Amino acid sequence: MSIHHMRQTYTKAGISLKDVNSDPMVQFSVWFDQAKAEEAPDWMEINAMTLSTASLDGNVTSRIVLLKAVENGKFAFFTNYDSVKGQQISANPNVSLCFFWPHLERQIRIEGTVTKTSREISQTYFASRPRDSQLGANASDQSSVVESEDWLNNQMDSLRSRYEGDTVPCPSHWGGYDVTPNTIEFWQGRPSRLHDRIVYKRNGDTWKIVRLAP
Ligand SMILES: Cc1cc2nc3c(=O)[nH]c(=O)nc-3n(C[C@H](O)[C@H](O)[C@H](O)COP(=O)(O)O)c2cc1C
Repeated sequence: MSIHHMRQTYTKAGISLKDVNSDPMVQFSVWFDQAKAEEAPDWMEINAMTLSTASLDGNVTSRIVLLKAVENGKFAFFTNYDSVKGQQISANPNVSLCFFWPHLERQIRIEGTVTKTSREISQTYFASRPRDSQLGANASDQSSVVESEDWLNNQMDSLRSRYEGDTVPCPSHWGGYDVTPNTIEFWQGRPSRLHDRIVYKRNGDTWKIVRLAP
């Protein structure tokens, strides 16, 4: 099938303003739990989200990262602070997150500002990761040019022997970011492209909820 003939009809559900929770974080949890509970292919990572960051001169970059916590009204992910995303975030804290759950015909878009997670939380999460992931975080200067595949494997081998029998330290350039949302949109696919879009906009301590045209 050619690309221009590819399209799906969405029929699974609808969303109504009267049914959504007044708190978008609660609404997010409801949809996240449904995305987990509903039969999804084994390979699908429900907590994978597209993170977009922008430099001060307006260059935008997107990539997938994994959501690792939703706490105190914030969405957390972990990464290398020296990576491209880390550099863009340190210049410009405005980011967006986007989840796509095709098995529910749903999308959630989040816009907000980002701050670094506390060192203590980053270290605790780092300690819970598989040992090879811990070594990988030490071996890889994320987003820098690698001379060869061997170079990276050699780095891993030398770190494996260096920390044999010891705790692998959490590098100072590795840790979490917390996104505080100011806008969250819940999108539900509908027939005839008349999709439902419910948007929450932060208004001081409360949220204004509106429906947008598809
Ligand atoms: C499913 C999936 C999950 C990923 N999770 C993370 C993550 O949690 N943290 C991370 O730094 N990179 C993660 N990555 C890799 C990023 O997409 C990206 O390649 C890397 O962070 C470098 O991005 P940057 O150069 O824009 O900073 C993931 C990639 C995929 C496909």
